[in-house]
Amino acid sequence: MNKTLIAGAVVLIAAIGAAIAITWKAGEEPPKEAQAPVEGAPIVSVTLPESLSTEAQIGKRAFDAVCAACHGENAAGRQGFGPPFVHRIYEPSHHGDMAFFVAAQRGVQAHHWTFGNMPPQQGLTRADIAGIVTYVRELQRANGID
Ligand code: HEC
Repeated sequence: MNKTLIAGAVVLIAAIGAAIAITWKAGEEPPKEAQAPVEGAPIVSVTLPESLSTEAQIGKRAFDAVCAACHGENAAGRQGFGPPFVHRIYEPSHHGDMAFFVAAQRGVQAHHWTFGNMPPQQGLTRADIAGIVTYVRELQRANGID
């Protein structure tokens, strides 16, 4: 076999190989990065309670005004901003009601998640936070977290 023939065969084999590789790649799932979560999207899906107590309804108003920016509508969390409260981590035996008063007053150092620190939240009365806790607990119970 002469050298030109061998070189030709090598080029041909390489070309076929590349064609097969391209066809095979096209059929693959997109890489994980392409499926990255959308900023601001809810993190968990929340089943809403059939009704909220009066205190929880008042708490919802304060929650929506202040906390939902990071903890999401219906406390479902927000991608890139803050964690959901409808989550086992925040069940009453792990994060008691006091944790909410302390979090609002002093802020929170990031420790469970990778969203960064929570800044202290000003302008809320103890009654506002008590309402928020009642609201969060009612959402949690409707989702089997108690
Ligand atoms: C600017 C965004 C932001 C806002 C607004 C915000 N939070 Fe947070 N919060 C966070 C983040 C982020 C964490 C998670 C920190 C971690 O554990 O990594 C957190 C954690 C918490 C925790 C868990 C504390 C602990 O001990 O682990 C509580 C309770 C909490 N927030 C309550 C509230 C309440 C109530 C409001 C509204 C009054 C609120 N947050 C508003 C970002 C926010």
